[in-house]
Amino acid sequence: APDQTEISDIIASHTHLEGPMLPILHALQERYGCIPQGAEALIATALNITKAEVHGVVSFYHDFREEPTGRHVIKICRAEACKSVGADALAASTLAKLGLDWHGTTANGAVTIEPVYCLGLCACGPAAMVDNKVVARVDDARMAALLQEAGA
Ligand code: FES
Repeated sequence: APDQTEISDIIASHTHLEGPMLPILHALQERYGCIPQGAEALIATALNITKAEVHGVVSFYHDFREEPTGRHVIKICRAEACKSVGADALAASTLAKLGLDWHGTTANGAVTIEPVYCLGLCACGPAAMVDNKVVARVDDARMAALLQEAGA
């Protein structure tokens, strides 16, 4: 588990800022790949707010995670243009195949599946993104290949 002293140091180095919450959360996420266990309580104490308030912010922003992602992150577009060409079915079959919900990670730690809202490839959906690479016209076969490449 992440060292509580180190977490406290990261928090303390941002408390002088005006509106320190988001900078603290970004710094923690950068360091650990997620908001580590125990951090929300430490932030609450440092900022003199409730743990529920901290948790509310963490869960509001999709960027913050409570567990680290897998080695690869595959995002499936859920916005309108992609939906109209089958993105919902692609998402459903992908999640079912992996036995995951959104934001879930395969048991071997290879792949995390995330929703995303438009990747700018609206004319050639369903669109997906593997790590930082966008992929157009993803069907089940293409997704199977992407998952295999990623080691899912
Ligand atoms: Fe999917 Fe724009 S709607 S890329």
